[in-house]
Amino acid sequence: MKVTVIGAGNMGSAFVRQLVGAGHQVSVAARDAAKAAQVAAAHPGAVAVPAAGAAQGADVVVVATGYADAVAALRTADVQAGQTVIDITNPLTADYMGLTLGHSTSAAEEIAKAVPQAALVKGFNTVFAAVLAEGADFGSGRKVSVFVASDSAPAKQHATQLATSMGFEVVDAGGLKNARYLEPLAGLNIYLGYGAGLGTAIAPTWLHKG
Ligand SMILES: NC(=O)c1ccc[n+]([C@@H]2O[C@H](COP(=O)([O-])OP(=O)(O)OC[C@H]3O[C@@H](n4cnc5c(N)ncnc54)[C@H](OP(=O)(O)O)[C@@H]3O)[C@@H](O)[C@H]2O)c1
Repeated sequence: MKVTVIGAGNMGSAFVRQLVGAGHQVSVAARDAAKAAQVAAAHPGAVAVPAAGAAQGADVVVVATGYADAVAALRTADVQAGQTVIDITNPLTADYMGLTLGHSTSAAEEIAKAVPQAALVKGFNTVFAAVLAEGADFGSGRKVSVFVASDSAPAKQHATQLATSMGFEVVDAGGLKNARYLEPLAGLNIYLGYGAGLGTAIAPTWLHKG
């Protein structure tokens, strides 16, 4: 698939690494072009593209900026009608120990409202960058779960295909509204990792019998 990653930080660079490894055609864009160039150079096969128009031609766009920057980044990228956008953001408070919204909405729903032409899918927000960078089992012996929530069947399928190609186990978490559950789940993961001191080599998963 042709994938554009917007953001060249912890998650953006980990996505580029795993997507290139899985054989996808990867473009990376950042606010600072030099950072995108640096990430692309570190992952042969990836190319850096300007932030303006970065979504053009992509099958999937991954928005790997902070939540507060996501809408502006997607508008600059020029997301096309019906284009799949994977929202990995968590609407965190400044100290990372809380969420700035929830219960009656979610970051995903707010982004979907602001960028209505996007086929938005929530996913990967419960996967620490350190886990993503290391790979889908990060040496744990188990596949990490990627929860996907969307109202668009094609977008959910795209996210599922991408996650599966990188070795993750996908849990279909229903419609986009269920991002209201997935964002607090990431909050718990962050608490356990940083607040309770377990570190970032952890990931939530879902067990079922049989
Ligand atoms: N880190 C994790 O373990 C983790 C796990 C799951 C989900 N997430 C979520 O993933 C997102 C990214 O987290 P992160 O840790 O990778 O953050 P980060 O390291 O701060 O990276 C964010 C990147 O987005 C770039 N950016 C900001 N505005 C932009 C714009 N308008 N256009 C293009 N790029 C823009 C930033 O550029 P500048 O450097 O120029 O500011 C930066 O490179 C957040 O929403 C976070 O909640 C993070």
